[in-house]
Amino acid sequence: MISICGGCHSESFARAELEKGDEMIREADHLLAEAIRMVVALHEDGILEQPDYYSFPYPDLLTFHDAPTAIEQKLFVMHLEHRMRAFQGVFHANPDYAL
Ligand code: HEC
Repeated sequence: MISICGGCHSESFARAELEKGDEMIREADHLLAEAIRMVVALHEDGILEQPDYYSFPYPDLLTFHDAPTAIEQKLFVMHLEHRMRAFQGVFHANPDYAL
C-alpha cells in the first residue's frame, strides 16, 4: 500500500497519514467501548430491562432505530453514525467530518 501512495507522495507522509487514521479508529473505539460498558452497567443494575427479543441483558448494537430505550438509541447512533464518520472522514483526510 505504502509503495502505491509513494507514487505521488513521500512514503513517510503516506505512512504518517495512515497511522493517524489507525489512531483515530483506536480512539473512537475506546469511546464506544466506554459507552457500551455504561449501558451494560444499566442492564446489570436492573435500570434497563432486557426485552423479550434480546438473547442477553446486553446492548444490541444492530437493533438500529428499534433500540428499545433512548440511551440504547444514542449508543446505536454513536456506533453506526459517529464512529463510522470518524473512520471514513479520517481516511478521506476530512477533519471536520472525522471530528
Ligand atoms: C495518483 C497519485 C496519488 C496517489 C497514488 C495517492 N495520492 Fe494522495 N493525493 C494525491 C493528490 C493529487 C492529492 C491532492 C488532492 C487535492 O488537493 O485536492 C492527494 C491528497 C492526499 C491527502 C490530503 C493531503 C492534504 O493535506 O489535504 C492525503 C492525506 C493523501 N493524499 C494520502 C494518500 C495515501 C495514504 C495514499 C495511499 C493509500 C495516497 N494518498 C495515494 C495524489 C495521490
